[in-house]
Amino acid sequence: MQTHEIRKRFLDHFVKAGHVEVPSASVILDDPNLLFVNAGMVQFVPYFLGQRTPPWKRAVSVQKCIRTPDIDEVGITTRHNTFFQMAGNFSFGDYFKEGAIEYAWTLLTNPVDQGGYGFDPERLWATVYLDDDEAFGLWQEIAGLPAERIQRRGMADNYWSMGIPGPCGPSSEIYYDRGPEYGVEGGPVANEDRYIEIWNLVFMQNERGEGTSKDDFEILGPLPRKNIDTGMGVERVACLLQGVDNVYETDLLRPVIDAVAARAPRGYGQGHHDDDVRYRIIADHSRTAAIIIGDGVSPGNDGRGYVLRRLLRRIIRSAKLLGVDDPIVGELMATVRDTMGPSYPELVNDFDRIQRIAVAEETAFNRTLASGSRLFEEAATATKASGATVLSGADAFTLHDTYGFPLELTLEMAAEAGLSVDEEGFRSLMAEQRARAKADAAARKQAHMDLSAYRELVDTGPTEFTGFDELVSEARILGIFVDGRRVPVVSHETSAESDNVELILDRTPFYAESGGQIADEGSITGTGASVSAKAAVTDVQKIAKTLWTHRVKVESGEFVEGDTVVAAVDPRWRHGATQGHSGTHMVHAALRQVLGPNAVQAGSLNRPGYLRFDFNWQGALTEEQRSQIEEVTNQAVEADYEVRSFTTELETAKAMGAMALFGESYPDEVRVVEIGGPFSLELCGGTHVRSSAQIGPVTILGEASVGSGVRRVEAYVGLDSYRHLAKERALMAGLASTLKVPSEEVPARVANLVERLRAAEKELDRMRLANAKAAAANAAAGAELIGKVRVVAQRMAAGMSAADLRTLAGDIRGKLGSDPAVVALIAAPGERSDGKSGGDNDTVPFVVAVNQAAQDLGLRANDLVKTLAAPVEGRGGGKADLAQGAGKGAAGIDAALAALRAEIDRS
Ligand code: SER
Repeated sequence: MQTHEIRKRFLDHFVKAGHVEVPSASVILDDPNLLFVNAGMVQFVPYFLGQRTPPWKRAVSVQKCIRTPDIDEVGITTRHNTFFQMAGNFSFGDYFKEGAIEYAWTLLTNPVDQGGYGFDPERLWATVYLDDDEAFGLWQEIAGLPAERIQRRGMADNYWSMGIPGPCGPSSEIYYDRGPEYGVEGGPVANEDRYIEIWNLVFMQNERGEGTSKDDFEILGPLPRKNIDTGMGVERVACLLQGVDNVYETDLLRPVIDAVAARAPRGYGQGHHDDDVRYRIIADHSRTAAIIIGDGVSPGNDGRGYVLRRLLRRIIRSAKLLGVDDPIVGELMATVRDTMGPSYPELVNDFDRIQRIAVAEETAFNRTLASGSRLFEEAATATKASGATVLSGADAFTLHDTYGFPLELTLEMAAEAGLSVDEEGFRSLMAEQRARAKADAAARKQAHMDLSAYRELVDTGPTEFTGFDELVSEARILGIFVDGRRVPVVSHETSAESDNVELILDRTPFYAESGGQIADEGSITGTGASVSAKAAVTDVQKIAKTLWTHRVKVESGEFVEGDTVVAAVDPRWRHGATQGHSGTHMVHAALRQVLGPNAVQAGSLNRPGYLRFDFNWQGALTEEQRSQIEEVTNQAVEADYEVRSFTTELETAKAMGAMALFGESYPDEVRVVEIGGPFSLELCGGTHVRSSAQIGPVTILGEASVGSGVRRVEAYVGLDSYRHLAKERALMAGLASTLKVPSEEVPARVANLVERLRAAEKELDRMRLANAKAAAANAAAGAELIGKVRVVAQRMAAGMSAADLRTLAGDIRGKLGSDPAVVALIAAPGERSDGKSGGDNDTVPFVVAVNQAAQDLGLRANDLVKTLAAPVEGRGGGKADLAQGAGKGAAGIDAALAALRAEIDRS
């Protein structure tokens, strides 16, 4: 049975039983504790916890799941996937254990021609939590399982949670016996390769707190209702129903293996275990990478981006170890699209982007591999040169850490070079690094845990946001926090020292930072009892998405929990903020009009007067694209489009073509902001102008790269835009008046001036040298005689460069003939507009040239130059015939020349 059919049967079975089909959520939901969605129930957590009312009592889904902690098992075992599809049925306070067992059993064992999977009931086993006699009894009763095929297991296996605080409960798992050729008998407790887990039924009834492992966490108490959460591993069921040996050979993964085998010298399944593992890694990881990119992740150095990078690099390395050296990732992405596309249309619609991102990483990594290979060569040569035969653990670690070489690659290359590798040293460095990473992760969790201080308030209910309709609202203080601690009252005096005072209100007009729009500014003032209390609001954030916390500076009086206050947003601030945010939508729309749909939003930030917008794009924008984007934006401003917002179902909004941010999770009801009908349509919770003309002029400042494949445009809007333009205009007017031409002639005029300046400087150089040559002739003629040596020691014209001096000194020396001769020239500091050497004001260059006859007398230019150097606070050096240097004390020039004469005299 094909995988797509397995999915379909699951959905049909439960829809028939009154479940609503819910689409898979993105693999990224914005819980800071959860890197990726790792179970079907994740999108339903708020329903289990009672934070939101579920719109249905029964739901069914096939969820995209990512689990990477066992990444090293992939390809080695028969059943580990980093990406898998979890089919699940959910009951929110409706049916419980009996229903869950009944539904699962019938689907598994119903014959294929009656819509089931047709598993042989004799081969199925179940496990239950230690003391769950009820489930034990139900398996006997409903499924007719004999007691010996029902096993009791402890918390680590049969008490399920997400691994972090949240809903949890005892579970019951269903296993399939693959037969004696897969290992010893004795049920799942004895062997999980022979008895393979296919379905987990969780009786979700409690809430857990912090903990350290699967079987060590605090149970906080019961959930408001008893729920069901089940998860069936689609890949594992496919593996069994398709009669293949492992999940990598099922219909959706095998084509990737085949695509690689077509290009590799050694095929799949030909008795080379290591090769087969590499094939399976490539198949598994290619699919995971495509899905993760599809949901908006780009390769990076931490978090999700790092997981993606690691997957792609493992693919590339595995391919190389299989002997495929040419780029292959583009082709693998296409294979994944073809196999997975029917169930995941986003892989088809978004294919160009997915492939581009994956291939860009491959290109970059191949470059890294090349540099790594160079490093390897150096290390190997050095190792051999020192007479050793073992490459150090540190080298292997650097290759791994910096260049992404897996140890096996280093081992292989070392063997080729006749070396072995200090594997132990390598492992201990790896262990150190892991310990560091663990400490980092623990530190991050700590930061997250602090939110528990707000827990009670989160439970009492959300803050009502009034700011779409009004800027001033009456509200009540729900809680006061100083430096993270809840206090009953805060005053100007008691909080003067703290810059972390927070007021939490039951309703507020203040926009809390989100969706790229920064928080509103304004004030909160007391009414009634605390009438003199006044605070300036400096920041507003959301806690657990529902509670608004206002960070404030208390300016006078005191605020008491429970008091009523007036919260007032600064209207000028808000006006600017709406311009910034609407401006961002306009630039986004214009960008896509000019660059096409591949320019996908990667992030944005806006505040009064300013916006920036990041998007996926390879390479810089041309000047023409940039100005077109600006033009389209300003035309849309000028068109004075109406700005409309409304809420609708997520699916409806998407069907209308509303743009959503990749990787963002949206509730079922979303707010859509529309500017000018089809011009711009985005899912957005931000505040906006009422019509596009209110944004005012939009000036794009520039465009730059902010990381691989991501560009950023920045712009001013409204009055700031006007001010920016006004400043530029004033600048231009100033230039025009200085140059005495109309503005439009300024560029030509400046170009012309630069040209003439260059010509003049050239001419000046020429003349200076001509003068110097004439001077050289004079100087030679007027050489003084010191002892037996003819000496020319002279101060030269300001601004001569060291090169000029050298030429001249050579000329003079030539003219002095073959008697002993020394030439010493030193130039006063001067100014050159071309910035060449000799150009900076305070340099005093000098040169000494000594002919052969003088050298025979023991005079050396590199000694004499030191005599010159000291009085001008400089340094110099060179050879016996010619030396040069530079100093900075022009006042010492005469003294330097005198010292030189004295030195020659002495010798
Ligand atoms: N949440 C359970 C699991 O992931 C069942 O769906 O295994």
